[in-house]
Amino acid sequence: MSITAPDKRQILVTSALPYANGAIHLGHLLEYIQTDIWVRFQKSRGHQCHYVCADDAHGTAIMLRAEQEGITSEALIDRVSREHQQDFARFGVAFDNYHSTHSEENRHFSELIYKRLRDKGHIATRDIEQMYDPVKGLFLADRFIKGTCPKCHTADQYGDNCEACGATYTPAELIDPVSAISGATPEVRSSTHYFFKLPDFADFLSAWIKDDHVQPQIRNKLMEWFESGFNEWDISRDAPYFGFEIPDAPGKYFYVWLDAPIGYLASFKNLCEREGLDFDSYWERDSKAEVYHFIGKDIVYFHALFWPAMLHGAEMRTPTAVNCHGFVTVNGAKMSKSRGTFIKAATYAEHLNPEYLRYYFAAKLTSRVDDLDLNLEDFALRVNADLVGKVVNIASRCAGFVKKLGGGQLSTHCAEPDMLARFIAAGDEIADYYEQREFGRAMRKVMELADEANSYIADQAPWVLAKEAGREQEVLDICSMGINLFRQLMVYLAPVVPAMAEQARLFMNLDTLDWNSRETWLGDHPVNKFKPLMTRVENDRIDAMIEASKEDLVEEQKLKETPKGPLAETPIADEISFDDFAKVDLRIARIAKAEYVEGADKLLKLSLDLGGESRQVFAGIRRAYSPEALEGKLTVMVANLAPRKMRFGVSEGMVLAAGNDDGIYLLEPHSGAEPGQRVS
Ligand code: MSP
Ligand code: ZN
Repeated sequence: MSITAPDKRQILVTSALPYANGAIHLGHLLEYIQTDIWVRFQKSRGHQCHYVCADDAHGTAIMLRAEQEGITSEALIDRVSREHQQDFARFGVAFDNYHSTHSEENRHFSELIYKRLRDKGHIATRDIEQMYDPVKGLFLADRFIKGTCPKCHTADQYGDNCEACGATYTPAELIDPVSAISGATPEVRSSTHYFFKLPDFADFLSAWIKDDHVQPQIRNKLMEWFESGFNEWDISRDAPYFGFEIPDAPGKYFYVWLDAPIGYLASFKNLCEREGLDFDSYWERDSKAEVYHFIGKDIVYFHALFWPAMLHGAEMRTPTAVNCHGFVTVNGAKMSKSRGTFIKAATYAEHLNPEYLRYYFAAKLTSRVDDLDLNLEDFALRVNADLVGKVVNIASRCAGFVKKLGGGQLSTHCAEPDMLARFIAAGDEIADYYEQREFGRAMRKVMELADEANSYIADQAPWVLAKEAGREQEVLDICSMGINLFRQLMVYLAPVVPAMAEQARLFMNLDTLDWNSRETWLGDHPVNKFKPLMTRVENDRIDAMIEASKEDLVEEQKLKETPKGPLAETPIADEISFDDFAKVDLRIARIAKAEYVEGADKLLKLSLDLGGESRQVFAGIRRAYSPEALEGKLTVMVANLAPRKMRFGVSEGMVLAAGNDDGIYLLEPHSGAEPGQRVS
């Protein structure tokens, strides 16, 4: 069934653009999953809804990261964009377009908006003094300066605040400041900066904020900020900078946060070109289309002050709403690398079904800005109880009888029309919850219905009736009712668990699970063989994911300690005495056996022959070698390393290998060396 036109909305939705220098993690995913659910819901309702995003590719951090890896900024952002898109695809986050802020569309709109603002007098220039790294030839943002806290005298604090005493200050106040990039003592230098005159928009913004474009919690926060008054916004950075040069200002670049939100326009423009959509009808000042930005609470000012002011000043429409969410914590605490709770999307997906997480986030999401705790115990219980125990259970209890007694054909007759009508009507309430981003309420309502469906089946006990002669039709009617109720639930859950819903759709032989498709009784209709739609969350998979996240940390540190590239040479360790060196007992070892270690993605277990003596060593070389390739080979090991207890057993030494992000290379002696021989 398709919706007819008059109430068909035109909606453009965005999620914040992830920085192109880091992996997507579970914190990010809250946002992309929240947005994706809302978008899928709108599409299910028959509205025209476009969901766009992009990588946020500009800025000093990305430039330095590329340099550290010894590649160009362009190569870095290309690689990261591919990784990001792969992560999003695995989690069912279905953008209609994924673009980059380093694109021609974005250059065009950045220049356009800037020139419009400039021509109306909203841009000012002023000389400012700033810390400058004379070795790198770079102006230093506060976070690239370190020094001793002027208040409590703790060493090694960042340029804007002290982690020890909480004091805030300017980098100039630090005692013995150094550049965190080169270690050089920074100088104060002056240069001309470009400013967006935000105070010009004070009246506009104060009205805009009160006009329901942001959540009440955000409005209150913004009003506080308003009362303290606001400043012009520095939108330029000096070369060298990875970004767009400002049109009338050679050597000056747009600050990354100037062109980042413009990336929403760029990505949408790119989609419009591809699909023949009318860009202006979405972005002209009196547009009837709706525009929603989903963001995290850390980037509110950019989206609820700077961005609407920029758009307004450039004579474009402003967002319908900025929808802000809180931060993800894991087991009640901030995600922590050392606890293994800083979990990358890719690491999660190697261990657990992404739809578990989609459901769990949905079950806990509200329209508010509160933080959301991913409690891993609760996560397993909840997913198992709701999705597997309640929803899948309905279909799995009924499918067999439909196959056996109806030859796979559902009854024409609806056994409980009132109940069916109630399930259909509940869709209106659930739709309201989705629309309001009250996903937790929507999930609770769906689970109430699932309870009702399960009680119905339990009361009717078709498995008992099936043993009595002559009651086949009754059993088939009950189970057809069950499948119909299951279908209602899958329509309601499809935005949250799209892959599971797709399996359910195939099982029920349906063209669509769109919202309105549910309004009919599915009778005299063939269903297919039932396959389990979702399996239980296993606790040992969760443990393995946490362990793997700790391993990710080790990998990352390795990368940091051995940076490549011309400007960041591998640091040479401190000098040691010959005696120190002589303490290390290096031996030739023969790899007698190599095996995979279950639950460890990076390790191989090696049995080493030291010429009579044998040792067991766990080595992080799985990425580079298969066990078969290693067996029989000679290598070099540290034979007197104190044994280390690891999760998988004791490691009695270490094999020597060279390596970085691109590869790992085990050392191998020339032929003739014998196992057990001392290496010196
Ligand atoms: N590049 C900017 C956004 C530019 S939008 C024009 C940025 N990138 S980010 O990669 O740091 O964050 C992307 C989004 O993920 C932001 O909305 C941010 O709030 C969100 N999150 C990042 N960590 C998060 C959690 N731990 N929890 C929830 N959301 C988190 O900011
Ligand atoms: Zn301090």
